[in-house]
Amino acid sequence: MVARSHFVLFLVSVFILSVAGLGQHDKDLATVHVINAMPRDSGPMQIRCSSKYTDHGMRELHVGDDYQCGVREQALYYCEAISGRQIASWHAFQPRRDKNHKAVFWLVKEDGFYLSWDNSSWVRKSGWYTE
Ligand SMILES: *[C@@H]1O[C@H](CO)[C@@H](O)[C@H](O)[C@H]1NC(C)=O
Repeated sequence: MVARSHFVLFLVSVFILSVAGLGQHDKDLATVHVINAMPRDSGPMQIRCSSKYTDHGMRELHVGDDYQCGVREQALYYCEAISGRQIASWHAFQPRRDKNHKAVFWLVKEDGFYLSWDNSSWVRKSGWYTE
């Protein structure tokens, strides 16, 4: 009897976990990619993306890495980046600009931040500030 109720409990938790996992994915309206394309010798950058409702937390992004975070609600998402003495903040997801796209790509280079929706044609949108 005890073993059986444990088994039921186990099934219930597996069910809850898989529903939570699926829900997480279904809820994403789009994915923001931030690709670190800084020169090879730059150290890792710190990056943090958030909206009014969701905070994806501070992450370390090495040269060549592609950081991905989900857009969970039709809201403005902005990202902040710190690389050495340089700092930047930009609109990573803008509902009006990006609403028809499932992915928003950002390429982070020495001279600034480039936007693409197809990971192939890039438009420079903003730059770095030096502290
Ligand atoms: C974006 O393009 C780069 C370079 O072609 C490729 O290595 C990468 O896998 C692409 N990323 C995605 C998510 O399509």
